[in-house]
Amino acid sequence: MPAALFLLAALLAKATEAASPVLIIPGTGGNRLEAKLSGRENTPHFYCSKNADWYDLWLDVKQLLPGAVDCWCDNIKLNYDSASGTFSNQQGVETRVPCYGDVCGIEYLDMSLKVGDSAYFHAMIEAFAGKGYVRGETIVSAPYDFRYSAVSNKDNYVNATMALAEKLYEDTGEKVLWISHSMGGLWSHYILSNADQAWKDKYIEAWVPIAPAYGGTAQELRLFASGDSEGIPGVSSDTVKEEQRSYESNFWLLPNLELWDDDEVIVTKGDKTWTAHELPQFFEDISYADGAQIYKTLPYDLKDPNVRTYVKYGTGQDTPESYVYGKDWDTIDKTVNGDGDGTVNLRSLEAGLTKGWENTEHEQFKGEDHQSVLKNDSLLAQLLDLAGAA
Ligand SMILES: *[C@@H]1O[C@H](CO)[C@@H](O)[C@H](O)[C@H]1NC(C)=O
Ligand SMILES: *[C@@H]1O[C@H](CO)[C@@H](O)[C@H](O)[C@H]1NC(C)=O
Repeated sequence: MPAALFLLAALLAKATEAASPVLIIPGTGGNRLEAKLSGRENTPHFYCSKNADWYDLWLDVKQLLPGAVDCWCDNIKLNYDSASGTFSNQQGVETRVPCYGDVCGIEYLDMSLKVGDSAYFHAMIEAFAGKGYVRGETIVSAPYDFRYSAVSNKDNYVNATMALAEKLYEDTGEKVLWISHSMGGLWSHYILSNADQAWKDKYIEAWVPIAPAYGGTAQELRLFASGDSEGIPGVSSDTVKEEQRSYESNFWLLPNLELWDDDEVIVTKGDKTWTAHELPQFFEDISYADGAQIYKTLPYDLKDPNVRTYVKYGTGQDTPESYVYGKDWDTIDKTVNGDGDGTVNLRSLEAGLTKGWENTEHEQFKGEDHQSVLKNDSLLAQLLDLAGAA
């Protein structure tokens, strides 16, 4: 090896040696989820598979095409047992989360589509890889079954993820740079705000919540009332409504009462109105009685996480604040927008400001939206800097 190159390699090795390992907590729908079907009964169509070996239930855009999407909704939907207060898969469906402790579940969501939003964390992972980070070793992620919230703590996620951070520290001798996106911010807040201070001081260098949905979003009320097809072409919101309503995590994303006042109407229909403080009644009124029961179980505290925190988020995007429904729950006559990243309302992104968290900086990326901010060059440069890898 030529001397100059050798020197460069040595310098790089030295730089990465001292750099923080990176742990990424993705958002909802932000990692792959596999399913196996065995003797499915009562499928919505004769052509829906009854048996299938492990396959990507999320994300495979082919399964979201008209016709196929009915089978998909039926396979991914959860069932809620109101007597025990627990959720489970549909009959004949097993699920598992691949790539825990690696990045192969978050870099691309649809493994056959390596562009657009499917290339979810690719730009960020590449930026770190360019500085010598190794996928699955010094840059890892903690994917999860995003249908569940911290209440179910499916797969013992809290402990597993704390153990993963500890392992990164043991392997590298450096504290962890903890990065989250969207609902990953709720998970991270839940884990970090409940962890012992000594644990955080030992293992965590800093936390970077990107576009955190801390206080939920007003949009969730539309999702529960009428479904949210998320712009998927040819898919009606009614098709996905039952499936979306069934996720425990969607309750976690409802507007936080500490950030939404009790005189602030989010949904209007005829002469009836609902605020965030009237959600139990709202669930009754949209004919989803279980909803009121599930809603009561969710953790919504916004206490100071007590780690060095750098919140980064897009702003300046039209973000739904309230909806006026027409004759039924399928007709929205008017959407009133406010500031935010197009998905998460500004007050939710900035909950740490409102709550006066210490050691927390907030930075707006004006013009970026909920997804695009993840690929912003200057944000990526800041992350390398925070990791000590720049
Ligand atoms: C999680 O870890 C803590 C401490 O390490 C332990 O006390 C607790 O039982 C664990 N919880 C579960 C659900 O395994
Ligand atoms: C990144 O965000 C900054 C701040 O909002 C913006 O000025 C810049 O144009 C963005 N960079 C790219 C490459 O989009």
